Amino acid sequence: MPQDTVELLVCVTCRSASPATPLATPDPDTRPGAHLVQALRDIAPEGLRIIAVDCLSNCSRGCTIALRKPGAWTYVYGNLTPELHVSDILEGARKYRDAEAGLVPWRERPEHFRKNCIARIPPLEAPNA
Ligand code: FES
Repeated sequence: MPQDTVELLVCVTCRSASPATPLATPDPDTRPGAHLVQALRDIAPEGLRIIAVDCLSNCSRGCTIALRKPGAWTYVYGNLTPELHVSDILEGARKYRDAEAGLVPWRERPEHFRKNCIARIPPLEAPNA
């Protein structure tokens, strides 16, 4: 993967786009994550790879995404909906791409990212990680 490529993993198996709508649909093609992938692929900038994945183990707080790139921290975010958060995700991905080691200052992150960070994982290359 080129050093300037960011991968955005999107869980397509989440059944709920929010805690208020549990088990919204059993049909894999109409689940919220599938809609989120399509919405992001339609407008993703060059250098942002949208990758559909199965469960990211954040099922009760879906939709769930993860951002990763070489030499950087990986971030997992939840409670996303395809209707409300596509622009937040793209803004967050752009700032992540431009940040050294993926470390975007907290105040500069989209509000949804500030309130819904599920996990952050150190880079493979991190010493003592
Ligand atoms: S099904 Fe999406 S995080 Fe588990």
